[in-house]
Amino acid sequence: MRLVVPLQGVAQGRGGLLLGSLIPCALFYFLQLYLKRRRSPSDPSPPSTSSSNQPGMTRHSSLSNLLSRGPLRISSLATSIAKPDDSPYYMGLDRASGDPYHRIANPDGVIQLGLSENRLCFDLIEKWTSENLRDWVMGREVGDLSISGIATYQPSDGTMKLKMAMAGFMSRVIGRDVSYEPSQMVLTAGVTSAIETLCFCLADHGNAFLVPTPYYPSFDRDMKWRTGVELIPVHCRSKDNFVLSISALDQAFNQTRKRETKIRGILLSNPANPVGNLLSRKMLEALLKFAEEKNIHIVSDEIFAGSIYGEKEFVSIAEVVGSEDFDKNRVHIVYGLSKDLFLPGVRVGMIYSFNENVLAAARKLTRFSSVSAPTQRLLVSMLSDTRFIVEYIQTNKKRIRDMRDLFVAGLEELGIKCTDSRSSLYCWADMRNLIPTYGEKGELELWEKLLNVGKINLTPGSACHCIEPGWFRCCFTTLDKDDVRVVMERIRKVVGSRTSCG
Ligand SMILES: Cc1ncc(COP(=O)(O)O)c(C=O)c1O
Repeated sequence: MRLVVPLQGVAQGRGGLLLGSLIPCALFYFLQLYLKRRRSPSDPSPPSTSSSNQPGMTRHSSLSNLLSRGPLRISSLATSIAKPDDSPYYMGLDRASGDPYHRIANPDGVIQLGLSENRLCFDLIEKWTSENLRDWVMGREVGDLSISGIATYQPSDGTMKLKMAMAGFMSRVIGRDVSYEPSQMVLTAGVTSAIETLCFCLADHGNAFLVPTPYYPSFDRDMKWRTGVELIPVHCRSKDNFVLSISALDQAFNQTRKRETKIRGILLSNPANPVGNLLSRKMLEALLKFAEEKNIHIVSDEIFAGSIYGEKEFVSIAEVVGSEDFDKNRVHIVYGLSKDLFLPGVRVGMIYSFNENVLAAARKLTRFSSVSAPTQRLLVSMLSDTRFIVEYIQTNKKRIRDMRDLFVAGLEELGIKCTDSRSSLYCWADMRNLIPTYGEKGELELWEKLLNVGKINLTPGSACHCIEPGWFRCCFTTLDKDDVRVVMERIRKVVGSRTSCG
């Protein structure tokens, strides 16, 4: 009855509102107090009201249980590769792709000279694609006009049609009477994958490859990440024009053997990324002899075989091993269409090997990195268009040469000299005179200044394991002719006009 009185007040208005709220609250409080007193003092926890089915488990204790289990683990491989890149090569690429220069849309953006793309003949690719779109989607030949040719499983190491088309393209690119045997080919999703597949085939975890420096920065990723293979730099120097010598190779071989590390091969980049040097026939013979003596393999990355635009001719190791009495079993070539035919997004590469066991294993491994059937159809169509391919190869060489001459002349006006090379997509610029202190630190200071103040991304030599600080790789095939002037103005802004040594 007592409860009814104030509630009546609420209903009746005046003063009832206060009493109507306070009195039920007070009653509830005293009821709680009374129940608490009656509970035994030895009973530490109230009966669980959580949804847990486990007796006595509270929210609090399940959280602490989770915490004591530690964070959810991922593999050590994933942990190490998930870390942000600290290499200036990848940092620079990210910076430039996050704020890309465009003459009209983003004139203060970063000019990309670090990414190996050759955009100089993109117009030809675009033209061909627009003219042949229907053909390559549907297939040229009668019988190909169905989805079944591309929707069903295809051989994971590539169709014979594409291997034949690739063999024809490679011979055309070299421009001499060199023939490639399609049955010795294994097609992969890019050269990156071809190199890694070869590593799996030739070496065990902890084995090593000798690699002449300066070398393509991503060899460290492609060869080491998943295979556990080691790369041993063989240093080449400016006084030798960064040309490899057998004595440097021998020295690196002996030093590595002393550490009880097994060397499984030499990785060559010919034409070389980043310097643009070509290995002579004599040097290739010496390398083959060296490999036989030491009983190791040779992997020759010839991805720039068609990007040659000077007097010197490119000699493939396939020609040398075929012409003399060398053991072919230890020779493996990688090639692809990311550079000579500007299709890096299409992801097509290949292993060309003389070793049946390697081919057998590589074929099976391509299940993890095969080229999709529509892609293969596109390429068969494009590579079989002889008129287009011949025109592309010729125009490409001419445009690279013209752009290189323009770019190198611009650097020279600033007092920056480049090594004398006429292949690949780069010039290898000597900025030793421009680094604030002699050493890797000074080189990186200049690189940062060029990136942050000049807004141009170059690849510092240290990212290519170059032993001498102050060298930079400039990929000029990403530029329009008009951009060259902007690049030079920006470099001038950072370094002024000074003379570099030798
Ligand atoms: C020497 C060399 N090998 C391999 C690659 C990777 O080629 P892909 O894009 O076909 O994987 C590159 C790319 O720059 C390269 O320069």
